Amino acid sequence: MSSYLDRIGAGLILSKPEVFGFDFVPEVLVGREDIQGELATILGSIAHPEGTGRVVITGPVGSGKTVLVKRFCQDIIRHLSDKRNIKRVHVNCRNAATPSRVMQKIVQDLDPGHPDRGLGVGELLTSLRRMLHSSNTHLIVILDEVDHLLRRSGDDIIYKLMRIDEDREGVGTLSTIMISQEQVLDLLENAVISRVGRSNHIRIPPYDEDGLMKIITQRTELGLVTGTCPQEILSLIAQAAAPSGDARQAIELLEGAAKRAEASGRSIIESKDVQRTVVTMPTNVDSMNIENLPPHAMMILLGLCRRLKKEESVTSGEAEKLYHVVCEEYDQAPKGHTTLWKHIKRLAQEDIVVTKTAKADVGRGRTQHISMPHMLPSDVERRLETLIPSRLRR
Ligand SMILES: Nc1ncnc2c1ncn2[C@@H]1O[C@H](COP(=O)(O)OP(=O)(O)OP(=O)(O)O)[C@@H](O)[C@H]1O
Ligand SMILES: [Mg+2]
Repeated sequence: MSSYLDRIGAGLILSKPEVFGFDFVPEVLVGREDIQGELATILGSIAHPEGTGRVVITGPVGSGKTVLVKRFCQDIIRHLSDKRNIKRVHVNCRNAATPSRVMQKIVQDLDPGHPDRGLGVGELLTSLRRMLHSSNTHLIVILDEVDHLLRRSGDDIIYKLMRIDEDREGVGTLSTIMISQEQVLDLLENAVISRVGRSNHIRIPPYDEDGLMKIITQRTELGLVTGTCPQEILSLIAQAAAPSGDARQAIELLEGAAKRAEASGRSIIESKDVQRTVVTMPTNVDSMNIENLPPHAMMILLGLCRRLKKEESVTSGEAEKLYHVVCEEYDQAPKGHTTLWKHIKRLAQEDIVVTKTAKADVGRGRTQHISMPHMLPSDVERRLETLIPSRLRR
């Protein structure tokens, strides 16, 4: 009766689904050793009995800002556990964009029984100060997505927090870590960066394809059954997420593809699982690009699609042969090698395909490997089969 539920939880591919949860923090951050070192240097003062630190971290979406800070806090709390009593509160300013919401979140996190209603910001600050002093605690306050707070309420509460020690005898009570996406640098510049100090500003770059590949390889090892996700599939996912440089997108693609494969009863992820997942995600590929291609570029693409339905990638040599078959089908004289390459380059520029030279193929006449991470080849094929005849008739 419930046979349709049999595949749920069968764990054919996903062995630890929690590894794909949004709050999962891996023990090791891949490829971010330098930035972790930079952060540790800036906040190294926390290791001193009365030291505090301040830092601003900016970077594009999915560049690992939040996970970097969460990892750092867990590590430093553990590392200094016999020296200092350190706690951290993570405030997402998207949900707490006013001073009182920020303060409520901090106080509630430290003391879940604390009455939050009816207290003003000043009273909450006093409560916080008292709590930290009486328990001899150093608090790291993470203001994540701080631009939401700045835009809505200005920087007042940030300064009140930073100066928590000033009007009383306390020292070394609180450190602040502020995180924001990069494109609001102007907003941050005046409000925080200039006052926290430019040397306390860490700018995180987006991930490139290689970086994404390493991250999803790690997730595969942590969360999937061994042997269920071939290397070519990982490459396809890294290619699909590379234009955004967003690690979250890459991880979601891996998880989505794994679930799709499981749902069809398979224990190995195939390229169509990735492509089907990609098309359900918001992407930067404009599908209209296909409609505007010259007829021969369409025919090249059709040849590619037919093969990419079954394989992860096609070599340039195969692409040419496949194109010739399509030309024959539509009764067209094939264009020469140079034109073919010009078209393939355009397909790559428009993010319809991705071309890559295999590392092993060095020297002249290098073989290109063409893949289609952003779209489902069978969908593109179907569209091309209606488009091409009408284009050729013109
Ligand atoms: N170096 C890394 N190693 C392992 N996992 C990573 C790494 N960088 C990012 N991730 C993972 O990628 C995902 C996105 O990272 P994170 O949430 O930290 O990005 P962000 O920069 O805070 O994005 P946003 O701007 O949207 O808040 C998370 O699942 C995170 O665990
Ligand atoms: Mg974040």
